[in-house]
Amino acid sequence: MFRSRRLHLIVVLVAASVAAAQPMSDREIESKINALIQKMTIEEKAGQLTQMGLTPESLELARQGRVGSFLGVLGAKQTNEAQHAVMEHSRLKIPLLLGYDVIHGYRTVFPVPLASAGSFDMPLLEQAERIAAKEATASGVKWVFAPMVDIARDPRWGRIVEGAGEDPYLGSEVAAAKVRGFQAKSMADPDSVVACAKHYVAYGAVEGGRDYNTVDISERLLREVYLPPFHAAVNAGVGTLMSAFNDLNGIPGVANHHTLTDILRNEWRFDGFVVSDWGAVHELLAHGTAADDAQATLEALEAGVDMDMVDNAYRTIPELVKSGKLPMSVVDEAVRRVLRVKFRAGLFDRPYTDAAREATDILAPQSLETARKLAQESMVLLENKGDLLPLKKDETVAVIGPLADDKASQLGPWAGDGQAKDAVTPLEGIVAKIAKEHVLYAKGVDIPPFEHGVGAGVVSPAPPSATGVAGQESGRPANIDDAVEAARKADVAVLFVGEFAGMTGEASSRASLDLPGDQRKLIDAVVATGKPVVLVLESGRPLDISWAPAEVPAIIQAWFPGVEAGNAMADVLFGDVSPSGRLAVSWPRSVGQIPVYYNHNNTGRPTSPDRWHTGYLDMSRDPLYPFGYGLSYTKFTYRNLKADFGQATVATPAAHHRGILQVTAEIENSGSREATEVVQLYVHDRVAPTSRPVRELKGFERVTLGPGETKTVSFRVKENDLGSYDPGMHWIVPSGTYDVWVAPDSSSGVHGTFEVK
Ligand code: BGC
Repeated sequence: MFRSRRLHLIVVLVAASVAAAQPMSDREIESKINALIQKMTIEEKAGQLTQMGLTPESLELARQGRVGSFLGVLGAKQTNEAQHAVMEHSRLKIPLLLGYDVIHGYRTVFPVPLASAGSFDMPLLEQAERIAAKEATASGVKWVFAPMVDIARDPRWGRIVEGAGEDPYLGSEVAAAKVRGFQAKSMADPDSVVACAKHYVAYGAVEGGRDYNTVDISERLLREVYLPPFHAAVNAGVGTLMSAFNDLNGIPGVANHHTLTDILRNEWRFDGFVVSDWGAVHELLAHGTAADDAQATLEALEAGVDMDMVDNAYRTIPELVKSGKLPMSVVDEAVRRVLRVKFRAGLFDRPYTDAAREATDILAPQSLETARKLAQESMVLLENKGDLLPLKKDETVAVIGPLADDKASQLGPWAGDGQAKDAVTPLEGIVAKIAKEHVLYAKGVDIPPFEHGVGAGVVSPAPPSATGVAGQESGRPANIDDAVEAARKADVAVLFVGEFAGMTGEASSRASLDLPGDQRKLIDAVVATGKPVVLVLESGRPLDISWAPAEVPAIIQAWFPGVEAGNAMADVLFGDVSPSGRLAVSWPRSVGQIPVYYNHNNTGRPTSPDRWHTGYLDMSRDPLYPFGYGLSYTKFTYRNLKADFGQATVATPAAHHRGILQVTAEIENSGSREATEVVQLYVHDRVAPTSRPVRELKGFERVTLGPGETKTVSFRVKENDLGSYDPGMHWIVPSGTYDVWVAPDSSSGVHGTFEVK
């Protein structure tokens, strides 16, 4: 087997030789690839296109050069051992690309992506992914299956938690920021990873919100809403993409030549590689477009899926080539793309990770600070009647609810190598913030799992914290009476309710958005004490809380905030930080409103209260809270919008004129404390060849203002970015009048117009 002293020597030698290595030019890379492809047998080529989990059998195949990638191998020792198998034993010594799901942090777990997108803080998101990349590479992971950039308008879908919400502009900004964070200047840097934008494409539009389901949408919707974040990731240089499970207009994602080749390769000129999602090539049999793995392989490879994840369907490649059914050129092209990414990732020069980095680079104190900041910025203040928040530090607080001291749930689903024991619970965070004697704790109720199962990808639970505060149960079952008693003794009750982490994520769709179990009863009982109540919701999706604003004065949507959850919550609850997070998704009043999203088209009968209105008889058609919404501890006033569409000279080699929209507005902090506002720019094209969304986000900026301070915020939008597809699917920028808003959310703001000539 493996001898660690020998590996150590290899690592030292490789590190020394690499110090002087220069990055390879594209030409050099292509000629090295040509030379390799000439030497490869068809079995070795199929091997490069095969990703497996690590078992003794697959390790043996790797030694024979018949595996291109492993997934789920973690830790410097294990990853170096796997790499050693190919670098020492295989004929051509083509390094492995080792992949893992690093969705919102590796060991330093950040807020779930739906939450962090709501920070609208792109530099901070980039920094978080830098940290994730540093930790992952220290552990030998060189490829992350992230960012997940699926636009989603349906909170029933469990995977809405993994993406940046409903908006293509925000989604594109987030996608690019994350790719920059993961890959930095070069994916060959020892602390950079190869990113993977997933799931290509329109996975977020699954019918009924049921996971893996059918998607049937127009080419317009595909191009205007679901494709842009992928395009942004490609433009940011993403190394790989993952194809989606769902069928799109009848064609399964893994066999879709139109999206994988016509658009991705031919239109966007993407030259990295595409990996299938888990087992998705073999799933073509269940989709009913292939009768066996050989046919599935043909469909996937010819459509443009280069690497097959775990189902080993691509083992049929040699036979398909020998029988003349699969041209060698198709195989060679896929191999070329995989090798290109391996060269760009510097793996041929530096296949091993430096094991010493694990001790210094993982869970570093500065990384935890970033996690805390991002968690603070991701929380959304939904209600704050009578300025109940922030709480006073000298009052007695009853900390109540099933999530108040649940460590694993703070991390959320798909938490990388996150460990529940690292997580700070709300109870711990509050105890660290105010005197322990001022805290009373009661769990109140448990959250029972759903009848039809819980989803995957959740870290195992850790025992509750040992804060030693009064009322903390010692192994007693949860009991509402305890909660009521704690609330009675306290000045204020803070309830931590919602979903536990396993109720959201992959294969975790819900038909109801109600608070699971008896949590509503718990809230009612605590409210009945007459004490002021703050509701802190933790969940991976908007829940149905339409009853809540009438019952409780203050509501914070905290999502799953990550490893620093409790500290960040305490910072916000006690006013050390004013909340600035915004909703990256519209918040429905009820499941019956879904899909509800801000950038919808007008009907021929826009809003009117008459009998022919287009809402519901029994409910408003507006969401409970709109996209972009979130309060703060101060008040911001918007005024004096100025919009001008003019010509700007663009300094290109052949200088030319191009339209630029310039918008300014004044924002005043009219309250008494410093706070940050997410100022949003929306436009609407009044008359176009096709019906246009009532508003579309085109810019945003985080602006921090002291009490009484006013700033002029300005935006510039390129003419081309105001356009849309005409009926023939050509991109045009219609002339005429446009509406423009500078706004605190998608349903308000100061309004103006401008003309495109
Ligand atoms: C998920 C992907 C993930 C892959 C590998 C699949 O089930 O859909 O998002 O990257 O597994 O873990």
